[in-house]
Amino acid sequence: MEADLPSARLDAAVLPRHVAIIMDGNGRWARQRGQPRVFGHRRGAEAVRRAVTAAAEIGIGYLTLFAFSSENWRRPAEEVGELMGLLRVYLRKEIAELHRNDVRLRVIGNRQKLPADVVSLIDGAEAQTKDNTGLTFTIALSYGAHEEITEAARALALEVAAGRLSADAITPEMLAGKLFTAYMPDPDLIIRTSGEQRLSNFMLWQAAYAEFLFLDIHWPDFDRSHLEHAVGEFQRRDRRYGAVAG
Ligand code: FPP
Repeated sequence: MEADLPSARLDAAVLPRHVAIIMDGNGRWARQRGQPRVFGHRRGAEAVRRAVTAAAEIGIGYLTLFAFSSENWRRPAEEVGELMGLLRVYLRKEIAELHRNDVRLRVIGNRQKLPADVVSLIDGAEAQTKDNTGLTFTIALSYGAHEEITEAARALALEVAAGRLSADAITPEMLAGKLFTAYMPDPDLIIRTSGEQRLSNFMLWQAAYAEFLFLDIHWPDFDRSHLEHAVGEFQRRDRRYGAVAG
């Protein structure tokens, strides 16, 4: 994709309800500038602010950003520490502004692995913004779809074992209701930056009918023009959900 995008003409009537983004390329962006990876993550946090503001202004209902995967714990401790630090700063500094802008913040993923103070910040931010009715902004943190689906299956199995549910009665909706994402619609559009074309264990169940868009820019460069371009591209797609064109 070119850096200079024509300003997209968006049809407010067919906006994607839920846009999810796999933020990728912070490390490469930094390396290209002779800087350490953390420099890319810091600039990536600024791109997060731009993406949230743009999504709210465009009128998207749900924005989910993949910030840290269950596999990212394998990164060097120093980098993991830096990412947790950026998250702390974000949760401390941005929450007042998010709240002012009527944004509801949610965090999905395995909280057991997160530092206790980060969990407290998340709990506080979620409680403070829970009644907001504007954009629902979800951060996927320590998130992995295999783990999520396994936990959902386990929860249903426990209900069967307790005699509250018959195994024959299990439906896809019941499983979806046990996922972290039960409070929101499935993503209509999934964007990944940095040119990689894979899901990397992100929202495997929820992505069943999502449109995909892969951008050639690295995440720290992401701004409103890229979101508008992506939404414009989404609006040109013909979604049939397995049926024939109408
Ligand atoms: C992918 O780039 C990016 C991440 C794993 C971290 C994303 C985190 C942020 C943008 C900052 C903090 C987040 C919030 C919500 C405030 P990479 O490191 O995998 O890049 P590479 O593939 O080029 O190495």
